[in-house]
Amino acid sequence: MPGIKVAIVGVGNCASALVQGIQYYRKIEDNKECTGLRNLFLGGFHPKDVQVVAAFDIDSRKVGKDLSEAVFAPPNNAPKVVNVPACGVTVHKGPVLDGVGDYTRRMVQVSNLPEANVADVLKESGAEIVINLLPSGAVKASEWYASQSLKAGCAFVNATPVFIATNTDWAKRFEDAGLPLAGDDLIDQVGATTLHKTLLRLLCERGVRITETYQLDVGGGTESLDTLERTREVKRTVKTESVKTALPYEAQVVAGSTDYVDFLQNRRDSFFWIRGWYFCGTPMQIDLRLSTVDAPNAGSVLLDVIRAVKIALNRKLSGAILPICAYAFKHPPQLLPLEKAEELFREFIY
Ligand SMILES: NC(=O)c1ccc[n+]([C@@H]2O[C@H](COP(=O)([O-])OP(=O)(O)OC[C@H]3O[C@@H](n4cnc5c(N)ncnc54)[C@H](O)[C@@H]3O)[C@@H](O)[C@H]2O)c1
Repeated sequence: MPGIKVAIVGVGNCASALVQGIQYYRKIEDNKECTGLRNLFLGGFHPKDVQVVAAFDIDSRKVGKDLSEAVFAPPNNAPKVVNVPACGVTVHKGPVLDGVGDYTRRMVQVSNLPEANVADVLKESGAEIVINLLPSGAVKASEWYASQSLKAGCAFVNATPVFIATNTDWAKRFEDAGLPLAGDDLIDQVGATTLHKTLLRLLCERGVRITETYQLDVGGGTESLDTLERTREVKRTVKTESVKTALPYEAQVVAGSTDYVDFLQNRRDSFFWIRGWYFCGTPMQIDLRLSTVDAPNAGSVLLDVIRAVKIALNRKLSGAILPICAYAFKHPPQLLPLEKAEELFREFIY
C-alpha cells in the first residue's frame, strides 16, 4: 500500500497526539494487540501508512526544528507517550494572520524566521492532504491555508471550528478543483458531545421524556484559552445543535465550553446534567463528570479521517465528502444522527 502524504498546519497539542499515535501503532499488525484505536486498518491503510511530509507553525520553539522535536515544544502540554525519532521534516514558518489571540499572546513566541512559500513547500513535499490544526478562532489563517491547499492541489481537512466544509463557497472551490474537503470541528473519540448524545438517545429509547440538559466543560490547553476568548459562542452553537439531533422532540438543551483552568494542563473535565420524567411522570436526573486528556482524544478520529480522505482522493471525489464529515465532525454540511453517520461512513469505506 503506498503511503498517505500529509501536511500539518499548526504543530500544537493535536499534532503532537497524531505524530505520537503514528509512532505508537507503527509495529502493531494484529487487531487483538491494538488498544485505543478504533480502526487499526481502514480501507486497507494502517496508521504507519500516514507520512507527515510537511509542517507549519509560527512559534520560535517549533519553527526550524524537526517535527519530532517540535511536537514536544512548549506551550504544547499533551502528554509524551512515545519517543518520536527524527523524521527529517523541518517545521516551516507560515504567516501569523489571526493565529494568535489576545489571551494566548503571552504563551506564543512568534518566530523571527522568514515565512515560507506555503504552496511551494506543499508541492515540493508531495503532500496530498493538508490537516488544519490551527487554534480555534483563527478564521483568516484557516481560510488562507485552505487557499494554499487548493493552489498546491491538496485535499483539506479542517479540524477547527471555522466554517470551511460547511461554507458553500469553499465547498464549491474544492469541488471545482477536483479535491476532497472534510470538516468542520473534529469530533473527539471519547468526547462529551458523543457521550451526551448517546445518553440522551438511550434514555429516549427507554421511554424517558427529557425536559432539560446541559453539558459544560473546562480545560487547560491553549485551545481552551482560545475558545474562551474567540469561539465560545460558535462552540456553543455547534455543540448544542449537534446534541439536539439525539432528541426526537424539543427540550431545553445547552452544550458548550465555559472556562480555562491552567493547572489542568491538557486535561478536560466535562459536566453533564440531564433531567426528565419516566413512568407515571416520576422525575429522574443524571449528574455526571467525564475526565479526559484533550489531544489524544483527536488521534483516532484524525487517523480515520486521513485514511478516508485518501480513499476519496483515490476515487477522484471532490467537494465536501458527507460520509466523512458526518462521521468525524461536530459541524458537517448535514447533521445526521450518530448511527446514520456511522452507517454512511462504513458504506463509504467498503
Ligand atoms: N481533541 C482535540 O484536541 C480537538 C477536538 C476537536 C477539534 N480540535 C481543534 O483542533 C485545533 C487544534 O487544537 P490544539 O489543541 O492542537 O491547539 P493548539 O493551540 O495546541 O495548537 C495550535 C497550533 O497552531 C499554531 N499556529 C497559530 N497560528 C498559526 C499560523 N498562522 N500558522 C501556523 N501555525 C499557527 C500554534 O503555534 C500552535 O502550535 C483547534 O482548532 C481545536 O478546536 C481539537
